[in-house]
Amino acid sequence: MLKDFKFHHIGVAVKDIEATASVYEQGGYKRSESVFDPIQNVNICWLTKDGMPAVELLAPADENSPVNKTLEKVGVAPYHCCYVVDNIEEAVAELKKQKYIMVSKPAEAVAFCGSKVCFLFNKNVGLIEIVETPANIIR
Ligand code: NI
Repeated sequence: MLKDFKFHHIGVAVKDIEATASVYEQGGYKRSESVFDPIQNVNICWLTKDGMPAVELLAPADENSPVNKTLEKVGVAPYHCCYVVDNIEEAVAELKKQKYIMVSKPAEAVAFCGSKVCFLFNKNVGLIEIVETPANIIR
């Protein structure tokens, strides 16, 4: 983990975006439209509420989505934490020294209006996403 990590959101693997989003809406969250994210092969939806961490719902787009494994093992569950970094290449280089394995290379993400994201895994931390200074998220 890097000292300048800023928490951005928690990603939750879900089977049905509508079913889960409606539960959050009852709790006062606002939801975005669902968008397809080709990097993760998922449909995603943002849930936001003042003073609360943002939640990203990730539902499999097909049988090859990486979230299927989580859903099969534990059902609807937290999937990743996301942190903002200033420079994604520098962050990746440092995290590799800290025994993080790159799961997906830095790529522009539709969910972040084109900001670069990357997924990494560490056996003591789990799956994390890092994003380079996102301008905004789709709402
Ligand atoms: Ni995410």
